[in-house]
Amino acid sequence: MDTVIADKGAKGTAYGRGPQSHDGIITEVGPGTPCGEFMRRYWQPVAVADTVKDLPLAVRFLGEDLVLFRDKKGRPGLVHARCCHRGTTLYYGRVEDEGIRCCYHGWLFDTQGNCLDMPCEKDNGAGIRENVRQPWYPVLEEYGLVWAYFGPPEKMPVFTRWSTLENVGPGEKLYAHQGTFGGGGDHTVDIMPCNWLQDWENVMDPFHLPILHTSFSGVQFVPEFGIMPEVEWDYDNLGMKYTAYRKLNDGREVDRITYVHFPHVRIVPSVELAPGAGSSIGFCMPVDDENYTIFHVMKVPEKFEFGAQRRERIPGKIWSEMSEEEHQRFPGDWEAQVGQGPISLHSEEHLAPSDKGIRMLRRLLKEQIETVRDGGDPAGVFYNEKDAVVEVKAGNWFRE
Ligand code: FES
Ligand SMILES: [Fe+2]
Repeated sequence: MDTVIADKGAKGTAYGRGPQSHDGIITEVGPGTPCGEFMRRYWQPVAVADTVKDLPLAVRFLGEDLVLFRDKKGRPGLVHARCCHRGTTLYYGRVEDEGIRCCYHGWLFDTQGNCLDMPCEKDNGAGIRENVRQPWYPVLEEYGLVWAYFGPPEKMPVFTRWSTLENVGPGEKLYAHQGTFGGGGDHTVDIMPCNWLQDWENVMDPFHLPILHTSFSGVQFVPEFGIMPEVEWDYDNLGMKYTAYRKLNDGREVDRITYVHFPHVRIVPSVELAPGAGSSIGFCMPVDDENYTIFHVMKVPEKFEFGAQRRERIPGKIWSEMSEEEHQRFPGDWEAQVGQGPISLHSEEHLAPSDKGIRMLRRLLKEQIETVRDGGDPAGVFYNEKDAVVEVKAGNWFRE
C-alpha cells in the first residue's frame, strides 16, 4: 500500500501556525472595555418581567454578577450580588416591603441601593448607614421585560420604542420571552455558551439559510429558504439590513428584509416566510464574553402559546432532547455558533464575498465603539421621546 507523504515544503499542514486571536474590541463587554462601554449606553433587557418576584434571581450581564428582585411594593431592583458590608451574596437575601435584606447581618437595601437598616448597629445604623450604598442600576418595565441601564447616569437615554410592539389591538397581546428558540430551537435553553457577536452577526448572514437550515440538516424552517438568494446589504442609521430576493418555484417573488440595530437588536421576519412585516424584536444580550442570552418580544394573537421550534428531521424532539449523534447529523444555529468557539478566532477566518454583511457589521460596530470612546453618543441612543421611536420595516415582502 502506498503511503501518502506530503511533499517536502508542502504548505497547508496545521503545523507551525502563528498565534490565533479574537478581536477583543468588538467582542469583550466587561466594565471598562471599549465594547462594554458602548453597550452600557443603551437600555438593555435583563428578565421577563413576570419572572421577577420576591425570590431573588442571580443574573449575570456584561460580565457583572447581579441580583434581580421585586420588593413587596412591586418595584423591581437590580443590585450587585455582593453585599457592600462584608460581601456575601444577596441571592440569599430576603425581599421585604422596602427592598432586599442581606442574610448575614441584616442590612436592608432599597431598589436604589440605599441602606435603610443596620440591625446590629446602634439606632439601626443611623448616622452611618447613609454613607454606604449597595451598587445598583436603574431599571424599568416595558413590553413585558425588565430593562436596565448600566451606563454613566448623566448619559441615560430615554427608552426606545419599536413600532411593531406599539398599539396592541383587541385580540392581540405582547409576548416576552427569554431563551434561544430563535437560534437554538429550544426554549428550555436560556444561555448560549459563546460570544454574543456570533449570534448578532449571524443575523446578517442570509447565506447560511439555504445550507445550515435547509439542505444540510433538512428543512428547519421552510423549503423556500433552499433557494440561493440574491442579497444586498445596506446601511441604516441605526445599524444595517439585508434584502434577500428569491423567486419561488410557484413564480412568486419575495424580498426578505432583516435588520440589526445597535447595540445588539435583531429584527428578523417570520421564519415561516409569512407575508408582511415581522412581529418580533430580539436582543442578543451578553452575559459575559463567552455567554449570551436572547430576549424576544413579539406581538401575537391573544390565543398564542409558545411552542418549541421543532426540527422536521427529528420529529417531536426539541434541541435538549437530541442525542449527541443527532446534534452532529442535524446541526442548527446552536451547533454552528457555539461550534465557532467561546469567542470566534477572527485571525483564522477567510471571509468570502458572501460575508459582505459580516464585514460591514463589524466595521459599523467598531465605528460606534470608537464614537463612544471619543466621548460621543452612539447611534440609537436618544434623549427625547419623540426621536426614540423606531419604525420597523423588516418583513417578507412579496412582490405584486
Ligand atoms: S455581609 Fe451583608 S449585612 Fe453583612
Ligand atoms: Fe440561523
